[in-house]
Amino acid sequence: MELISNPTHDNLRKAAKALTQGNLVIFPTETVYGIGGDASNSQAINRIYRIKNRPSSNPLIVHIANIRTLFNWATDIPKYAQSLVETFWPGPMTLILNRSTGVSDLLTGGQSSVGIRIPSNRIAQDLLLEFEKLGGLGIAAPSANRYREVSSTTSEAAQEGFRNEGSKGDLILNGGACEYGIESTIINCTDTSPSILRPGVITPELIEAYTGIRCGLGENSKGVVTPGMSLKHYSPQTKIFIDQIPKKGDGLIANIDFPTPEGVVRIASPRNLFEYAKTLYQSFEKADSLRVKSLCIYLPDSDSGIAVAIKDRVVKAASR
Ligand code: TXA
Ligand code: MG
Repeated sequence: MELISNPTHDNLRKAAKALTQGNLVIFPTETVYGIGGDASNSQAINRIYRIKNRPSSNPLIVHIANIRTLFNWATDIPKYAQSLVETFWPGPMTLILNRSTGVSDLLTGGQSSVGIRIPSNRIAQDLLLEFEKLGGLGIAAPSANRYREVSSTTSEAAQEGFRNEGSKGDLILNGGACEYGIESTIINCTDTSPSILRPGVITPELIEAYTGIRCGLGENSKGVVTPGMSLKHYSPQTKIFIDQIPKKGDGLIANIDFPTPEGVVRIASPRNLFEYAKTLYQSFEKADSLRVKSLCIYLPDSDSGIAVAIKDRVVKAASR
């Protein structure tokens, strides 16, 4: 895969062209990096599953440039979902909507719904707009990591994860470290009321404050399967222990106020929840590369806001 370290507008036009030719492009979003292909091209979609080693029953999110394109992919959009769209797009939120006729089973894992998102990251936006100018309807992109490994939040991590993969024409767009560092909030909008299938930085508290809509966690999601949310996920090589005192040679992630015991390797000292989320996956990589004995993580001392998403990811990373 060719790395584009400075994705100028011209480079993004080339990347959009590469997508129309069936190539894959790894690009930054405000959450994590995605590995994208033309969502209307089954060969490109098949390549994404293959390169990630991901089962094709695990559906992909379609990234679109703007709301105009939404109706190519989704239909019967409930009122509450329109309100979510107006409030939180572009941004770190994916909606699961009833799919339009003609949307391929390959994208949706055979489900009657489709995951859609308009990202806010400048490079992602520009790429999507250039792709749209060439007639593209959407970019299918899961996180840019091999199946069940940690999502990449830097172009270096994505490049490392796919170092033996890819073919001529595939590109990696460098956009530095992702703003939020954890994957988008996924909201099921195929029922009479919304429910969160994957917590993220768009929280129930934020949704209620901005829209008045109450959105529970995992409620009301009957019939919708989120195959990628299985318990073992997001795992680094290093074994993780939660809220346990670290021993000599162990790595430690804990709030900045927490002192580092002697002989323990401090991996991260987040000052707040945003910093915690942003550095979490990079910290997993650091623990792996420093080959610490194990990684001790002190969870955030809160059960609301983005602490819910952080805990979700850490608990999943620790279970194997
Ligand atoms: O922040 C993100 O969402 C990133 C960036 C690149 O946009 N993407 C991402 O994609 O995390 P991925 O494929 O790694 O995770 C998407 C999750 C998977 O667990 C998948 O099973 C679920 O969304 N999903 C996608 N479409 C779905 C659908 N129609 N119904 C239920 N779950 C769906
Ligand atoms: Mg993923």
